[in-house]
Amino acid sequence: MSDIIINDIHAAYGRTAVLFGISLEVREGELVCVMGRNGVGKTTLLNAITGLMGLTGGSISFDGKDISKASASARARMGIGYVPQGHAVFPQLTTRENLQVVNERLGKPDKEALNEVIDLFPALASLMNRPAGLLSGGQAKQLAIARALITRPKILILDEPTEGIQPSIIHQIEDTINDLHKATGMTMLLVEQYVEFALRLADRYAVMDGGRIVDTGDTATAEMDRFASLIAI
Ligand SMILES: Nc1ncnc2c1ncn2[C@@H]1O[C@H](COP(=O)(O)OP(=O)(O)OP(=O)(O)O)[C@@H](O)[C@H]1O
Ligand SMILES: [Mg+2]
Repeated sequence: MSDIIINDIHAAYGRTAVLFGISLEVREGELVCVMGRNGVGKTTLLNAITGLMGLTGGSISFDGKDISKASASARARMGIGYVPQGHAVFPQLTTRENLQVVNERLGKPDKEALNEVIDLFPALASLMNRPAGLLSGGQAKQLAIARALITRPKILILDEPTEGIQPSIIHQIEDTINDLHKATGMTMLLVEQYVEFALRLADRYAVMDGGRIVDTGDTATAEMDRFASLIAI
């Protein structure tokens, strides 16, 4: 079991409340996408799930355990993999070192896993000795996803993987996410503003506005029209 059950969570930056009672379930093997305009609280939601931010109310359970008070590193060890928004790599470290650092931190050094992620992102193979700060945006994004995958997470959480990335790399990232989801059945939670990309990949979607979920549904039956009014496209 690797489902996440988010039950009526609230979160705030100091005294400024940002999440107002979010409830969302990501079931085993499912790919759920959260969409919404800038500033509606999508990243805050992911930070609350991964433990980078505390809750002011509600609870989160993963694999049937209440993780609301667990540290971010404890959640990572339990199998929650996170690819944050932006180019989340260590710029001074090489591509290889970026991948190895993560391995060591989680206490699971694994050469096989390194080979597996290079199979998923062949573009990284020739960049292993390059400082990550010198990678292009698309390469850095692939490294960030590879870094999350090398720990073999039970659930992969991605925050806007297409942001600022050119179409050909977006297609590669889409194929990789799709393959992982379809072939390995990995549970995934994706935040994305590129609606077509999100709807192609996801089984279900949720739309956020003002720190709340304002719409949910199955992507198979979703009509594009409804998103135009909910999300700035
Ligand atoms: N560290 C912070 N301190 C104070 N306020 C913050 C902080 N981070 C985000 N906020 C505010 O919280 C709200 C939600 O921000 P969040 O980053 O979750 O939005 P988002 O939906 O991910 O937006 P985007 O699509 O631009 O990434 C915004 O009003 C933002 O200004
Ligand atoms: Mg964000």
